Amino acid sequence: MTSSAVRQLLTIDMGHRYTAPDRFYKGTRFLDELEQLGEQIAREVFHSDWASLRPLSGHNADMIAVSTMTRPGDSILTVGPDNGGYPGISDQGYAPMVGVHNLYFPFNTEEWNIKVEEARLLIKDRKPALVVFGQSFFLFPHPVSKLVETCREIEAKVAYDASHVMGLVAGGAFQDPFKEGVDLIMGSTHKSLFGPQGGIILGSSAVESQVKARQFPGLVDNAHWNRMAALAWALDESRRQGAKYAKQVIANAKTLAKALHENNLPVKCVGGGFTESHQVLLGITGDAEIERFTTALEGSNIIVDRGVRLGTNEMTRRGMKSKEMERIAELIARVYHQEPTARVKREATRLRQEFQRLEYT
Ligand SMILES: Cc1ncc(COP(=O)(O)O)c(C=O)c1O
Repeated sequence: MTSSAVRQLLTIDMGHRYTAPDRFYKGTRFLDELEQLGEQIAREVFHSDWASLRPLSGHNADMIAVSTMTRPGDSILTVGPDNGGYPGISDQGYAPMVGVHNLYFPFNTEEWNIKVEEARLLIKDRKPALVVFGQSFFLFPHPVSKLVETCREIEAKVAYDASHVMGLVAGGAFQDPFKEGVDLIMGSTHKSLFGPQGGIILGSSAVESQVKARQFPGLVDNAHWNRMAALAWALDESRRQGAKYAKQVIANAKTLAKALHENNLPVKCVGGGFTESHQVLLGITGDAEIERFTTALEGSNIIVDRGVRLGTNEMTRRGMKSKEMERIAELIARVYHQEPTARVKREATRLRQEFQRLEYT
């Protein structure tokens, strides 16, 4: 959920203009100043040596990272799509397009995390050129600090796809990938971070020139300057309010998960405390049951995806706290236990209508 200031910035005249790193276009002083300001705020928020707000999406940022850090014939190691990894850089997505072979982390689905010792052996044995932490179904911080040394031993670069947890990392409430030793953070700016739809890439000085040479002119030309203005503003909101926001997002996810569990829904990772992120995962199996449940939720004005993945960022931004999380869990449970949707829909709509403001702006 973007603030009204961010939304207004998306409509400004900069959306009609161009600038480029080679200064091909004239009359670009304000665009250039804006970019520098946005990069400065991003460096501060994420503790990076440099930042680029140019990637047009999280996927575009991933493409820049993968194509910069690998050569055809290399391997990359990521969380596989079967374990909630991002398909966009898997063997179904971008990697084979640049001649890169995919390896997948050994993954513990009970603890919902990478198996450290097995991953260490795999890294030593298969020597990927790039190791990417982060995933789409992301509950717990990844063991970056435990594996980064092994990556260094085989001279692999280490990246962190923070698409989902960007707002939590920005708020200092999840993990600090640069402190743990990664070379790059990349990802979306519109999931747990409350920026406009787009991407960002941040890194250590050792990889700056390589990444920027690959980014332009190969993978991003026009960077959509209205979006960049909006993103700079959202990053400033995060700099000021991000810590409070991220803490509440995670507290809400924990409360929601616990309340769903108490209402007899199959919430994943009971033993691990359900979640340390903004996400809650339900272990509902069978295509027919998933379709029935998610469609009945949709009919009740409660929107989740077919991964049955819930996120608390939007509700938190609306000002909801633990009382509302318990209320939402109860509404979801009534749908799960097959109560007709009409009444749940009325109550869900009424609850949402009580929260018209946006907080942390
Ligand atoms: C881990 C991860 N990386 C990258 C992306 C792509 O982001 P975008 O939708 O901004 O292109 C996604 C999309 O959901 C994702 O889950």
